[in-house]
Amino acid sequence: MEDKRQSRRDFFSKYAPAAFVGALGIWGGSLLRFTLPTLLPQATQRIKLGMPDDYPPGPVKNVDDERVMVFSDAEGIYAISTTCTHLGCVVTWTGRGFTCPCHGSRFDMKGDIEAGPAPSALVWYRITRLPSGQLAVDMDDSVKPGTKEPLYA
Ligand code: FES
Repeated sequence: MEDKRQSRRDFFSKYAPAAFVGALGIWGGSLLRFTLPTLLPQATQRIKLGMPDDYPPGPVKNVDDERVMVFSDAEGIYAISTTCTHLGCVVTWTGRGFTCPCHGSRFDMKGDIEAGPAPSALVWYRITRLPSGQLAVDMDDSVKPGTKEPLYA
């Protein structure tokens, strides 16, 4: 009986510090991963969208892999980032706005904040026309919210 207690004590004295350090490492790694999206620079890119006729007013085209959603209405076409301004999670389109699955921020249809903790509205990107006539989202060029590229001017 005495030997069992001694061996348990030995076991914990040997492995508890290693378990503590391991748990600390996992916690630290998680914390670092949690903050990385806002620390890393965004890749520079221009995303081709296709021809203007592909964007009749109304529907939403989700360019999800690129973290942007493209909308068109009677005033033109516009692109809103799906990267949450809090810590960089990808927001989800609800049909009436955006929600962030990470910490619950909510944005309206224009990307303005309805509920935090996001500190600012979603970013709008410039839509440009390429020499070929195709439309493209300029992910390096944010514009004032509400800026739309007329489709049928
Ligand atoms: S990352 Fe969106 S609310 Fe925190």
